[in-house]
Amino acid sequence: MDSATAAIVLDFPLFLRLYSDGRVERFSGTDVVPTSTNPVTGVRSKDIVIDTNTDLSARLFVPKITNPNQKLPLVIYFHGGGFCIETAVSPQYHNYADSLAAEANAVVLSVNYRRAPEHPLPIAYNDSWAAIQWVASHSTNGGPEVWLKDYVDFNRIFFAGDSAGANIAHNMGIRVGSEGLNRVRIVGIVLFHPYFGGKEPIGGEIGNVKGKSFSDKLWMFAYPSSSGSDDPMMNPAMDPGLSGLGCEKVLVCVAERDFLRDRGWYYKEELGKSGWGGVVEIMEAVGEDHVFHLLNPTCDNAVAMLKRVVAFINEDKA
Ligand SMILES: *[C@@H]1O[C@H](CO)[C@@H](O)[C@H](O)[C@H]1NC(C)=O
Repeated sequence: MDSATAAIVLDFPLFLRLYSDGRVERFSGTDVVPTSTNPVTGVRSKDIVIDTNTDLSARLFVPKITNPNQKLPLVIYFHGGGFCIETAVSPQYHNYADSLAAEANAVVLSVNYRRAPEHPLPIAYNDSWAAIQWVASHSTNGGPEVWLKDYVDFNRIFFAGDSAGANIAHNMGIRVGSEGLNRVRIVGIVLFHPYFGGKEPIGGEIGNVKGKSFSDKLWMFAYPSSSGSDDPMMNPAMDPGLSGLGCEKVLVCVAERDFLRDRGWYYKEELGKSGWGGVVEIMEAVGEDHVFHLLNPTCDNAVAMLKRVVAFINEDKA
């Protein structure tokens, strides 16, 4: 059966469509921008293959180097897109990583984990973990990537991500806590509009049956073998290991009109009372919706949010 006649098995409008012959059609996040040197900020980027067996890759950004002896923080970034769409090399993610590198004076590694449904979860989690371990392998001067060896302070590593990427960033923090990560220090995690859920609707989800159903359905689509919306990877409140989150501080960014807003607040509250020893902060952008900062990075709220993230990364220079 060719795609013209294949039936639609599953349709997430404006997002993704799955056909009976296995073909997947992605409706956004498919554009690619080349690596570059930003003529305004001097940020340079390059693409890196981390694992040739799985084709795991990443785009690495370094800010303009003014003092070659100064080591910089590293942000390991996980892009969003419901675990299914988008890449580290699409215009919106390239540009956001580029501005983050410039504004925070940080190295940014934006990970191209493999996506569902061709590669269902936990593959994206395992790819992300492989990328983190690859980074850590550079901390004692091993590892192949000179930009990491030359510029990164391995005592100042951050995880960040938006939406499904924020879910990944959180779960990588959990994995650092449970499995450990030698020779590097994970200082903090930034979660932009994190994609979390749970069997019981909370807050605005109660009156938004359609939104809740989309959120639950997308999770099971991306992770068919998960235990459902209360799987600890989707609902951290159900995670008996939450207090073991392997970093010192967390910044949660939520947007007032985002369907996922209340999940961000709930995460902040649950982490706060879990017994975890770190500090969790939250910032809400008034009047804004899901990933507004990627769609409109120059609006006042996006500029203010980036400023807060930059402070979060640079306030600790221990
Ligand atoms: C992912 O990692 C976990 C933990 O190491 C492992 O048990 C599992 O087999 C891996 N799954 C895949 C699909 O690679």
